[in-house]
Amino acid sequence: MFDQTYKIADKFNVSEKIILHSGDCLEFLNQCPDIIFKLIVTSPPYNIGKEYEKKLDLPVYLEQQKQVIRECVRTLSPQGSICWQVGNYVNNGSIIPLDTVLYPIFAELGLQLRNRIIWHFEHGLHCTSRFSGRYETILWFTKSDNYTFNLDPVRVPQKYPGKKYFKGPKVGQYSGNPLGKNPGDLWIIPNVKSNHIEKTEHPCQFPVELIERLVLALTDEEDWVFDPFLGTGTSIIAAIRHNRRGAGAEIVPKYITLAKNRIMQSLNGTLKTRPMNKPVYDPIKAGNSQTNIPWLEKTEDGQMSIFDSSNRGERTTKS
Ligand SMILES: C[S@@+](CC[C@H](N)C(=O)[O-])C[C@H]1O[C@@H](n2cnc3c(N)ncnc32)[C@H](O)[C@@H]1O
Repeated sequence: MFDQTYKIADKFNVSEKIILHSGDCLEFLNQCPDIIFKLIVTSPPYNIGKEYEKKLDLPVYLEQQKQVIRECVRTLSPQGSICWQVGNYVNNGSIIPLDTVLYPIFAELGLQLRNRIIWHFEHGLHCTSRFSGRYETILWFTKSDNYTFNLDPVRVPQKYPGKKYFKGPKVGQYSGNPLGKNPGDLWIIPNVKSNHIEKTEHPCQFPVELIERLVLALTDEEDWVFDPFLGTGTSIIAAIRHNRRGAGAEIVPKYITLAKNRIMQSLNGTLKTRPMNKPVYDPIKAGNSQTNIPWLEKTEDGQMSIFDSSNRGERTTKS
């Protein structure tokens, strides 16, 4: 679909393929026609005081979100989906999962929730007065019962591909789908932290593979994908990699520059991304020496024991 005359437009025009609006998302949405976008996917500001947001009272924040969501619903195709990815709003150490307070807005606008996807990752802040947060959610809504859903392109390897039917008319045949299984609603995908290959200076980027899965499942080629809070351009990148059209709005100039650069790199094949379905790095399997526990030593029988434990009268791992 993309030729050598790559162009990133700023204003909405249905004949474009890539649009990055430098400015407020509502301003952009106001230019867009009804029922144009097949997938609207975003991670809005969480109202937790990041550098690009002013912390607001929760009702004020929710009212702002409602204005954007209402416009998203207007511009969403009847076969389309909205995926709203959020974490927690934190106030004086007390958390409010944002999906719980945003859900009523979508429901009032007539959308239907298809999945509440748990996105689990292993890196983040270490909390001292509650368990450290290691997941966020994606609320996936559709506008109607007749929605695009392509399971085959996002199937993942079976756990037991060699399993066979043991009774019935198909006895002896393999029971699993050779294309793989449904990925389920718990997605284990590394978040973009310091040594992730996609890391930029933006504090909360989507990993491209997270959005690729949504693009492949919820749109067809040539469909429009839109992200109202585009950040570093990830949603556009995930769209154009799979021959979809991508649009987004971003308000902070340095992220607009970053997004444009990443989109161009994606187009010319130089953007480094973590491949979809690559297994999560396991430092023990990889033989990373930092997984050795420094205060344990190996005894002759290969068991570990704690240094000087006999002197301190402590239990060892041998006991
Ligand atoms: C959570 S980040 C999204 C990051 C993005 N998912 C990515 O992969 O880079 C939210 C982004 O929304 C932008 N933003 C905040 N208010 C906005 C508005 N009214 N219109 C457009 N962008 C806005 C912020 O500058 C920030 O980059």
